[in-house]
Amino acid sequence: MPTSHLSLRPRILRPTPVNLARAAAALRRGELVGVPSETVYGLAADAFSTAACAGIFEAKGRPTTDPLIVHLAGARDLGSVATVNEAALRLAERFWPGPLTLVLPKLRTVPDLITAGRSTVAVRVPAHPLFRRLIRLSGRPLAAPSANPFGYVSPTTAEHVRDGLSGTALRIVVDGGECEVGVESTIIDLTRAGRPRLLRPGGLAVEKLEAVLGVRVERPRPARIDPTRAAPAPGMLARHYSPKTPLRLHARLDADALGRLPADEAILLLRHPARSGRDSRLNWLSERGDLAEIARNLFSALRRLDAATWRVIHAELPVGEEGLAPAVRDRLSRAAAKR
Ligand code: TXA
Ligand code: MG
Repeated sequence: MPTSHLSLRPRILRPTPVNLARAAAALRRGELVGVPSETVYGLAADAFSTAACAGIFEAKGRPTTDPLIVHLAGARDLGSVATVNEAALRLAERFWPGPLTLVLPKLRTVPDLITAGRSTVAVRVPAHPLFRRLIRLSGRPLAAPSANPFGYVSPTTAEHVRDGLSGTALRIVVDGGECEVGVESTIIDLTRAGRPRLLRPGGLAVEKLEAVLGVRVERPRPARIDPTRAAPAPGMLARHYSPKTPLRLHARLDADALGRLPADEAILLLRHPARSGRDSRLNWLSERGDLAEIARNLFSALRRLDAATWRVIHAELPVGEEGLAPAVRDRLSRAAAKR
C-alpha cells in the first residue's frame, strides 16, 4: 500500500503520564519532540547531543549560524551550562521560570553547534510545567528553537507545530494548550559586566529587568540591525516571523484609512474598532487593546489570515516603550520586512 503523506505528520499527544514518558524516552534516544512553552511551542532535542541538535536545524531549515536556546528545569542547573554572574542570579531568582533568556559565557559541556561556535550560550527556565516535566523526565537540558519552519510565523498551538513541520523528522508534539504569552522570550546579554544589553524584546518587559538590575538595559535601535550580518542575535534578522501574504504596517488605522482599503485586503487592528458593522475585512487582537492579550493572539491571527485568500494583510502597530509594545512591534516589523 502506498504511504500517504499524512503518515509523515507528527502526532499530537495528550499530556498523560504515559505520553510524557514516551516523549522523554524519544528525547533520550536523540529524537525531536514538539513541546509547549508559555511563549511559543519549541522543537526540542537533547542539548548535550550534537547529533540530536543537528536534527533541529535540519527540520526547521535553519542555518547553523543561528544559535539555539538551552532550556533548564530550574535555575540551580545554570552552572551546568554557563558561567554564572551576579546579574544572572538576580534575574533568575526574580523571573525564572518565565519568558526571559540570559546570554552568558558558555561551558565546554555545551556543543558548539548549539551556540553556532560562539563563546556564549542562551539559557532559560520555561514557565510551562509540561516543558519542565519533560526536561526532568529526560534528565538533560533541552535545546529548543520555536517549532516553525525557518522564517515563518511562530507556533502557539500544537496544531501549528504539526502543520508547519509535517514531512520532517518530527514524530510527536506534546499538547500543552495555547501559549499564554504568545511571543518569544526576552533575550538579554549579560556577558559585559554592568552593561546588560537587550538582544530581543519579548514576553518580559525590559523595564521590569531594569528595576531588578538597577541599571539601564542598552537597547540597540532596530534601524541599526544589519540583516546581512549574523550578530548580535541572529534571530534579529530583518525578515522573520513572516506570513506568505504581503503584510503592510500602519501607525494608525482610523475609519477614513479603513474606508480607502480594498475589499480583498484584510485588516488586523489592535483593539475592537468603534464601528465594525458587517465589514468582513476587520479583525482585532484584543477587545480593549490590552497588550498582553494582543501579544497572545498575534501569531495565531497572522496564521489564520495567511491561510485565507486575502491579497494583503494590513496591521496596526502598537506605540510606546512599555510592557509588551516593543515585542509586538518587533515581531510585526520583521514579519513585514522585505525578502
Ligand atoms: O521563547 C523562546 O525563547 C522560544 C521558546 C521555545 O523557548 N524559543 C525561541 O528560540 O524563540 P529561537 O531559536 O526561535 O530564537 C532564539 C534566539 C535566536 O534569535 C538566536 O539567535 C538567539 O536566541 N541566541 C541563541 N543563542 C545566542 C547566543 N549565544 N548569543 C546571542 N543570541 C543567541
Ligand atoms: Mg524563532
